[in-house]
Amino acid sequence: MKKKIAVLKGDGIGPEVVDCGIEVLNKIEEISNVEFEYNFAKVGGDAIDNYDDPFPRETEEICKSSDAILLGAVGGKKWDEIESEKRPEKGLLRLRKSLEVYANLRPCKIYDSLKDNSPLKPEYIKDVDIVIVRELMGGIYFGKRDTLIENGIKTAYDEERYNEVEIERIARYAFEMSRLRRKKVTLVDKANVLDSSKLWREVVQKVAAEYSDVELDFMYVDNAAMQLVRNPSSFDCILTNNIFGDILSDEASQISGSIGLLPSASLGEKLGLYEPIHGSAPDIAGKNLANPLATILSCAMMLRYSFKMEREALIIERAVEEVLEEGFRTFDLDSENYLGTKEITREVIKRIK
Ligand code: NAD
Ligand code: IPM
Ligand code: MN
Repeated sequence: MKKKIAVLKGDGIGPEVVDCGIEVLNKIEEISNVEFEYNFAKVGGDAIDNYDDPFPRETEEICKSSDAILLGAVGGKKWDEIESEKRPEKGLLRLRKSLEVYANLRPCKIYDSLKDNSPLKPEYIKDVDIVIVRELMGGIYFGKRDTLIENGIKTAYDEERYNEVEIERIARYAFEMSRLRRKKVTLVDKANVLDSSKLWREVVQKVAAEYSDVELDFMYVDNAAMQLVRNPSSFDCILTNNIFGDILSDEASQISGSIGLLPSASLGEKLGLYEPIHGSAPDIAGKNLANPLATILSCAMMLRYSFKMEREALIIERAVEEVLEEGFRTFDLDSENYLGTKEITREVIKRIK
C-alpha cells in the first residue's frame, strides 16, 4: 500500500518536529506493508519568503493530490507586522478552509509518568482523558472583519457567525466520537451573552435527540476554563466553536504537563490534516530543544484516521508512553535533565517494533 503525504514544515520549530515525525513514519514502513511518499510544500512565513503568499497555489495542489497532510507550525516575529490577510497564520486558515476540515480533534490525556509535570495536584488529574472537538472552519476566524474610522475614531471588528449546517455537522462529529469513549458531550459556549451560542445550543440539542445514549451538558466558557483546572476528569468530549477550542486546548495541554505533548487531527469528508497544537515556538527554534512528541502523536492520528492503520497508531502511542515511563524527558518537561528533539525521537523509534 502506498500513501502520499504532503509535508508542510512551516516556521520556527515546525521543520524540526516534522523531521522527527517523518523519521517515525519511516520506521513504520519497516514494520508494516505501507510505503510513504512525501511531497514537500511551503506554508506560512516560509511560503511568504518564497512566493509572497502564505498558502501558495502550488501548496494547495500538492495537498489536494495527497492522501493526508502533515504540518509543523507557522508564524514568527519576522512576519508579525504584515497585514492580517497576508500573515503566516492566514495561510494556515486558508489551508484548513481549502481542505474543508471542519472537525479539529485535540485529545488530552495524562501520562502517569508525567504526573509531577502537571501544575495540578495528583488527585485533580487522576483519570483525565479529554478530547476537544473544535469547529475549525467558521466563527470569528472567518467572519466579516474590518478596520475603519468611525466618527473620527479608529475602530476594528471581527464577526462571530455560525449557521445551523456548520453547527450540526460538528455536533454529529462530537456525538459519534463520544460513543467511542465515555459517552459524554459538554457543549462549551457563551449562551448567556451571544446569539451565536444560543444557536449552538438549539442545534446541538436537536442532534442530541438522535444520541439518547450520550449524556449532553452545557457549560459557559468562563466556567469551563475554571473547571478544566478544578475538575478536569469530569470532561469527556468538549464540543465548542473555533476560538473557544483554540484557547481551551492550550489550557488543557498544561494539565498533561506541556503543550509539546498535544497532537491534533483536522478532519472533514475528505483529506485529513495533522499538526501539533502548539505554535512555531520562536524562543526555542533551531536549538534542538523542541518537544517532538505532539507531532509524532499527530502522525499516529494520521495512521488511525486517514490510513485506518490502528495497529501502527497504537504502536507509536505505546512507544511514546514507554519513553516517558522510562524517564526520558525533553527540555520543556525537565530543563536540567533532558534529551534533544532528535535524541528523544531516536528513543521513540527504538521502541517501534
Ligand atoms: P507557541 O505555542 O509557539 O509557544 C508558546 C510557548 O510554548 C513557548 O514558550 C514555546 O517555547 C513553548 N512550546 C511550544 N511548542 C513547544 C514544543 N513542541 N516543545 C517545547 N516547548 C514548546 O505559541 P506563541 O508563542 O503564542 O506563538 C508563536 C508563533 O506561533 C506565533 O507566530 C503564533 O501565531 C504561531 N502559532 C502557530 C500555530 C500553528 O501553526 N498551528 C499555533 C499557535 C501559534
Ligand atoms: C492553533 C493556532 C492557530 C489557531 C493560529 C496560528 C491560526 O493557534 O492551531 O491552535 O488559532 O487555530
Ligand atoms: Mn492555538
